[in-house]
Amino acid sequence: APVYLKDYAPPDYRFDAVSLDFYLGEDVTIVTNTMRTSPTFDGAGDARALFLHGDPSPGEGGYVLTAKGLTIASPPTTPFELAIVTEIKPQDNTELEGLYKSSGNFCTQCEAEGFRRITFYQDRPDVMSVFTTKIVAEKSKYPVLLSNGNLVESGDLDGGKHFTVWEDPFPKPAYLFALVAGDLGVVEDSFTTSGGRDVALKIYVEAHNLDKADFAMASLIKSMKWDEDVFGLEYDLDLFNIVAVDDFNMGAMENKSLNIFNSRLILATPTTATDADYAAIEGVVAHEYFHNWTGNRVTCRDWFQLSLKEGLTVYRDQEFSADMNSRGVKRIGDVSRLRAAQFPQDSGPMAHPIRPESYIKMDNFYTVTVYEKGAEVVRMYETLLGKDGFRKGMDLYFKRHDGQAVTTDDFLAAMADANDVNLDAFLPWYTQAGTPALDVKTKYDATKKTFEMKCTQSIPDTPGQTNKTPTLMPIAVGLVGPDGVDMPLTLEGEDEASKTFTFTNVAEKPTPSILRNFSAPVKLTTDLTQEDLIFLMSNDSDAFNRWEAGQTLTRALLLGLVDDAASGRELQMDAAIVDAMRKIASGAFEADADKAFIARAMTLPSEGELSELVSPADPDVIHAARDFVVKSLARELRPELERIMAENTAEAYSNEPGPRAARTLKIAALGLLSRLEDPAIDAEALRRFHAADNMTDQIAALASLASRDCPERAEALDAFYERWKHDPLIMNKWLGIQAGAALPGNVKNVVALTKHPAFDIKNPNKVYSLVGGFVGGTPTNFHAKDGSGYEFLGDIVIELDAVNGSVAARMVGGFTRWKKYDEERRALMKAQLERILNVEGLSENVFEIVSKSLE
Ligand code: ARG
Ligand code: ZN
Repeated sequence: APVYLKDYAPPDYRFDAVSLDFYLGEDVTIVTNTMRTSPTFDGAGDARALFLHGDPSPGEGGYVLTAKGLTIASPPTTPFELAIVTEIKPQDNTELEGLYKSSGNFCTQCEAEGFRRITFYQDRPDVMSVFTTKIVAEKSKYPVLLSNGNLVESGDLDGGKHFTVWEDPFPKPAYLFALVAGDLGVVEDSFTTSGGRDVALKIYVEAHNLDKADFAMASLIKSMKWDEDVFGLEYDLDLFNIVAVDDFNMGAMENKSLNIFNSRLILATPTTATDADYAAIEGVVAHEYFHNWTGNRVTCRDWFQLSLKEGLTVYRDQEFSADMNSRGVKRIGDVSRLRAAQFPQDSGPMAHPIRPESYIKMDNFYTVTVYEKGAEVVRMYETLLGKDGFRKGMDLYFKRHDGQAVTTDDFLAAMADANDVNLDAFLPWYTQAGTPALDVKTKYDATKKTFEMKCTQSIPDTPGQTNKTPTLMPIAVGLVGPDGVDMPLTLEGEDEASKTFTFTNVAEKPTPSILRNFSAPVKLTTDLTQEDLIFLMSNDSDAFNRWEAGQTLTRALLLGLVDDAASGRELQMDAAIVDAMRKIASGAFEADADKAFIARAMTLPSEGELSELVSPADPDVIHAARDFVVKSLARELRPELERIMAENTAEAYSNEPGPRAARTLKIAALGLLSRLEDPAIDAEALRRFHAADNMTDQIAALASLASRDCPERAEALDAFYERWKHDPLIMNKWLGIQAGAALPGNVKNVVALTKHPAFDIKNPNKVYSLVGGFVGGTPTNFHAKDGSGYEFLGDIVIELDAVNGSVAARMVGGFTRWKKYDEERRALMKAQLERILNVEGLSENVFEIVSKSLE
């Protein structure tokens, strides 16, 4: 049954202190939970029931048991102590929620509602308490015993056991509770805060991975410094722990002073991790650290407010990464991701506002909408209020709400009050789903010297929402003169459906650069000509819009070709675009062109992005059109691409920004060249594969060979397997490359890989690589006309659902946009959805996604 935001009511009881005792065993783990409880209502009246969430099935007692927990009908109306003992079996917990085992070690994941799988509790974020945790376990198997806060006691016990006691002085909701017990090595460092606190930093990994945690440690230290410099936020305890585990549903978790990470976001050496892995590690280590203030010190009142902490913390990690690396390239990457993943969600059956109204299973709402669109909404405050205004808002937010569980309305109020502005017109961003469309028409008047921009916005209907209110959005604009020099201006106040802005004293006809830095998460259309766009590609001072001009250009070309391909017309390449791309490839637009930027600028809109723009979408036609453009460009630009390869091949690996950007560009060039299916290029790729001294180069060469049926394919895949089969993280890459390959009929290979020893359905990373890699890889395979791709996904979702409902729910998402496709494909996908819905004992997770998709 769904939970609704409108039903929120504050709790009748609070927990003043909680004491947890874990007796960890191989067969059974015993948890003794003692809660000092007080009514929050006036005790002079009648008693009120106390409801505790819980999953374990309890024994005898004076309470009413339901599927979701237990109710104590009339507890004392004055403070009392409540003790509950539960027995659980972490070793059988394949959902990886609550207390479970990974590689033989105990660990926890409690957000959103995993704590109730450990003990009975008011498992809701507005119930905050101080926790004391005692852990008892066998010393030889579990020498490391960790929980939140400070270690206050430890020692040996009889029978080869030992114990630790942890006290966390900061009141917190149960979702931030964590426990780890295992045989782990540790990498240590320290950080002194600006206030002079010495903080011990520890990253725990399996002993054989001890050489792989240095980069994560360096990232942590940089994050701590950055949060002080940019937001004045210091760490608040003497110890900060990170633990890396192999079996983890998501990326990582910000448990107070004991972050737990998916090992793929901690472990890295140049030979085992790619540049993209390094960037992800830096960003996620920062993200979890930043949660200490935005999430832990100030938390969410209820789960509908999730974007309060996630949107804000994603915004913060994006800004951190932008400061540590190339700002423009970071922004381009973030917007690409938004377009590739969030825009489709926002126009499908799962569309929801960043503050949803209801959910069946909260895990399903850890979405690109809540996270990435949520971050865009936070970024718009910064654009509207300026950096200083935004900081003032943040300061007031912490001043008002430190130690509290609050709402997105409280955040908006802090931003508004700190800057003495009314932001009511901004509220619809929280309540309305759907990506706004923004159309801009321009007019230059040479006699009056005016430049006019007519901006019209509309927000499409989404499930359960029609007739939407226009919303305040910042539209950052620059007018670029014919000489390429610009006068940047920012227009604000677009809170009506349509509004015209006029610039005066505009001496010459400018080329407008609209929505600079992607100042609002909208779908923009303008009346700019191809000529204007080519001009902006070389002259816009805004890096994002320089890239965007090229994307707009190639998107239009591709959509035209999709049309041609669909009606059987001959495909023709546009010479002006080839020319513009040649200039980009030769680095002619800027003297010190960032090479990673050039790589981005040479990347065409993806097949996924295009399929969002055509209706109905035929993946074969879209593939044919895009393939034609890629091959045409590769052929026409071959000399430039080969020069890029030659000039950017380094003697030896370096992880400095310059060499990293050069590597990115070289790899983009190789990717394009390999599409020519030229034996000489393939032979060169194989040579580079064997010669590579780092994973980035090795994977790039492997991917260029493995995506097609070329003679080198098997050799490269086998060599890679033999070299890396001992390393599960690298095996994920091996699986992912094969899953996403553009080989015709690839579904057979993927089905075979599900039986391969490198695959394990219980490990989320493996599933995301193989199943996710197949669904998101080459659309022509997943959408094979015979339905074989759909059948595979249907089979695996059903099998997976019995193991791990939240991972299964993520995978079944491949079907949610079924209505976008042609009639036959629709029918095939719908049949799979119906088949899944009929499975007995289906998880709530999958039920919610499937039933909403079918609505
Ligand atoms: N709070 C974590 C993060 O974004 C994610 C936890 C997700 N948990 C879940 N059950 N979906 O940093
Ligand atoms: Zn987060």
